[in-house]
Amino acid sequence: MKYPEYRPRRLRRTEALRALIRETSLSPRHLIYPLFVAPGKGVKEPIDAMPGCYHFSVDMLVEEAREVLDLGIYAVLLFGLPEKKDPRGSHAWLKDGVVQKAISAIKEAVPDLIVVTDVCLCEYTSHGHCGVISNGQVDNDATLELLSKVALSHAEAGADIVAPSDMMDGRVGAIRKALDQRGFDQVPILSYAVKYASSFYGPFREAAECSPQFGDRRSYQMDPANAREALREATLDCGEGADVIMVKPAMPYLDIIHLLRQECTLPIAAYQVSGEYSMIKAASSKGWLDEARVMEESLLSIRRAGADIIITYFAKDVAKGL
Ligand code: PBG
Repeated sequence: MKYPEYRPRRLRRTEALRALIRETSLSPRHLIYPLFVAPGKGVKEPIDAMPGCYHFSVDMLVEEAREVLDLGIYAVLLFGLPEKKDPRGSHAWLKDGVVQKAISAIKEAVPDLIVVTDVCLCEYTSHGHCGVISNGQVDNDATLELLSKVALSHAEAGADIVAPSDMMDGRVGAIRKALDQRGFDQVPILSYAVKYASSFYGPFREAAECSPQFGDRRSYQMDPANAREALREATLDCGEGADVIMVKPAMPYLDIIHLLRQECTLPIAAYQVSGEYSMIKAASSKGWLDEARVMEESLLSIRRAGADIIITYFAKDVAKGL
């Protein structure tokens, strides 16, 4: 194939021709919409650093959930802001904790919406780390037991999928075992298998009030410099029984999504995190970027890299726009 016999522009001439040969698609059914649940009633509080996102109390969240499904988005991902934090994060597994209440309220009012829950301790611990602390360190094995309790409490409340995001070693296996023992062998695990110690989580930490009070997360989240290690993490989680593997963040790690797509047959999810979202929002609000176009391009690039599922704060905007 050589110019002038071959002219790539021939198939770019009209939108119909372009659509005919388009390789990658983006539809609301690929998306999961993250939502933040807070205590109280009638609460819909905007999150400063994430324009268009809110803290919802359970009653308001149910309305939002209905709208999400009506827009053609099949799944939400729940994060909780508890009434109280303590060193062990014990409000994370309360039977009537904020997330547990939200799960049952959504499943009752909007049963067809898939409820995915974030399983982690950092929103619930007073020190803001994703596990319990012993001797100034996050204690891996002591944390596994607590994470299993959290996952179980979500499953008991009716969660459709649990998504551990803590990055402790062995947590997928521990959670799988705990769920199976209690009869939840049909609840899938979406593992944040490849989660980098990223500065793109900045706005989220404001949204979920979960900044570590000392140190950082680099002793458990991955080093942004590493790609082969992503394969090791994903392989471990596959072996422990993960049903879906996640890469997080998304756009700075498209190579990792692509790599896992070649090596792993499980469905792959990618999380377009708060910083990726807020950058686009901020630049667009200044008129420096065309928000709708950049949103679509960023999500398409994540799909093109190999993600089946994208978790994104843009989910509703995509569903309204497409
Ligand atoms: C909790 C968790 C975080 C995010 C998702 N789950 C924060 C973190 O690890 O610091 C970030 C999501 C986002 O930035 O949108 N472990």
